[in-house]
Amino acid sequence: MLEVFPATAKITDDGHLTIGGCNAIEIAEQHGTPVIVFDRATFEKRAESYAAVLGPRQVFYAGKSFCCVAVCELLDRLGLSLDVCTGGELATALRASFPADRIAFHGNNKSISELEMAKEAGVGRIVVDSFEELERIAKVGLTTRLLVRITPGVEAHTHEFVQTGQEDSKFGFGLADGVAFEAVKRAMAVPGCTLVGLHAHIGSQIFEMAAFDLAVRRLAAFANDIRKELGFVAEELNLGGGLGIAHTDDEITPDIEESVQRISSAVQREFEALSLAIPRLYCEPGRSIVGPAAVTLYRAGTVKQIPGVRTYVSVDGGMSDNIRPALYDARYEAFVADRMNAKQGPRVTLSGKHCESGDVLIRDVHLPADICEGDLIVVPATGAYTYSMANNYNRVARPPVVMVHEGRSTVIVERETNDDLLKLDRRLDGSKPG
Ligand code: LLP
Repeated sequence: MLEVFPATAKITDDGHLTIGGCNAIEIAEQHGTPVIVFDRATFEKRAESYAAVLGPRQVFYAGKSFCCVAVCELLDRLGLSLDVCTGGELATALRASFPADRIAFHGNNKSISELEMAKEAGVGRIVVDSFEELERIAKVGLTTRLLVRITPGVEAHTHEFVQTGQEDSKFGFGLADGVAFEAVKRAMAVPGCTLVGLHAHIGSQIFEMAAFDLAVRRLAAFANDIRKELGFVAEELNLGGGLGIAHTDDEITPDIEESVQRISSAVQREFEALSLAIPRLYCEPGRSIVGPAAVTLYRAGTVKQIPGVRTYVSVDGGMSDNIRPALYDARYEAFVADRMNAKQGPRVTLSGKHCESGDVLIRDVHLPADICEGDLIVVPATGAYTYSMANNYNRVARPPVVMVHEGRSTVIVERETNDDLLKLDRRLDGSKPG
């Protein structure tokens, strides 16, 4: 049952959940609900698993999965690198004094001002996504390392992958139509910059490792073409992120070290087969590091029983703190934090507090039959793409993120207040209200 929980999760003799040595009931009392509980040890352990295979500098944590100052500080201590994809993520890293040289800047439409910010900060790598961007880089006068983002025509989804002939994507340069070749040629010629290699990200929540094999094969063939025709030798190969995690008990979280080792062997095999120098392998994991590191605690409120139809258990958060079920039909589990071993009752629907029928966190979940108002509900595996996609729908303030470690809890992102929500509002005459 604890497989989808952070590594430090335990159940006490009286059925209480503890994470990082802290009792969930006490965390909720101290910090209120909803609250995202972030287990530092799980985050560090999973980050270190990547670093153990590739070396820490070659692991660019994908900030889009969850980015805040404290996380950037943790990454810096671990010696990892960081992938940012907006000026906001870059600003967060810089506020944390994260070394800019270990930052790679992504994005399919980086603006001039974002590129200027990158220049001023001394960002170490830019992953180039379009011809327009190459012009913008030259215009801004950036002098940095460049990687060209390739769409290799391999698209991986959960449990399957497909080969997309026409490479229908807003990201990067396609292989099939020769655009990628042209991009390498032009990137080699950007004054003051050094093209160091190629990048590809084939999808997220991937369980099918064969998708990576195919992408590597295509990238090796392309590397061979550009070596022969342009004399360019790719020193770096960044294969993006994408490794999946389990959100429910019927899924399995793939082993990080094994998976990365397999990708690394594929790179070696495919490049060697073409007598190419083996590039240094880089990756950009997000979900597989931070996803299992956090849980969300909610307080149960209204319990509405519709006999013969369904029971709705409504909590004090919902689609504003976790939009994934509404957006992607993402599945989660739920438990009651002080009755972790309780016998499960009939299925109920765990719903949020937003004014929308689609605001459902889990459609059919077994909770104890005596579930009632005031119970503390825990939803595990909420570390990735929850807080980072949180919003203020219905003017609901975002929850805090509380880090737990060795029996201590520390707020690393404060709870948003109604004053925060109103901070940007102005009266009809443009003046500040209140
Ligand atoms: N690198 C690039 C270029 C990416 O676009 C992404 C994710 C990553 C790395 C990190 O991938 P990960 O290891 O986290 O799978 N909001 C969606 C996920 C979108 C992923 C976008 N790109 C979700 O909640 O499932």
